[in-house]
Amino acid sequence: MTGFLGLAYLWVKAAHIIFVIFWMAGLFLFPRYLVHHQESLGTPEADKWVHREALLRRMILTPSIGIVWLLGIVLALNAGLFDGQPGLGWLHAKLFIVFLLSGYQGWAVGYSKKLAAGQGSVASRRLRAIGEVPALAVVLIVILAVVKPF
Ligand code: HEM
Repeated sequence: MTGFLGLAYLWVKAAHIIFVIFWMAGLFLFPRYLVHHQESLGTPEADKWVHREALLRRMILTPSIGIVWLLGIVLALNAGLFDGQPGLGWLHAKLFIVFLLSGYQGWAVGYSKKLAAGQGSVASRRLRAIGEVPALAVVLIVILAVVKPF
């Protein structure tokens, strides 16, 4: 599958995967921070978590989600997604899960702002379980992208 990207295709795909790894590293770490932050509410440690979360967001999560989306859309254009190319069911399913994962990040960032204001509303055990969502999403997305089962 080379499309309009020609010889650049493999380079764009490599860059896509590199930034996927950065994004996922941030997305695995961020919910862990939220758990520690919530458990430190009311202590001087809480302010440090506010700072760590802001840094992780600014340095990793925000830039990498943007670049992954940008390169992913370029690859999807190259694959003919918007020309009605057949056989791209896997890509539709993948995009659906990536949309949900992007929404998950929005929720987590919103929750970190609530914690920064001293308000944690989700039980810690539940918050730990919610932290496993990105791992589950990665399993599904990688199977869809690599195996392309439909
Ligand atoms: C943000 C929106 C995303 C879009 C629009 C997108 C789209 C694409 C497209 C069109 C390809 C090229 C497939 C091919 O040429 O065969 C691709 C490759 C790939 N994507 Fe994404 N992707 C996105 C996010 C992600 C995420 C979040 C992950 C992992 C968690 C991921 C993992 C991969 C992998 C592993 C490949 C290489 C598949 C292969 O060549 O075998 N992508 N992506």
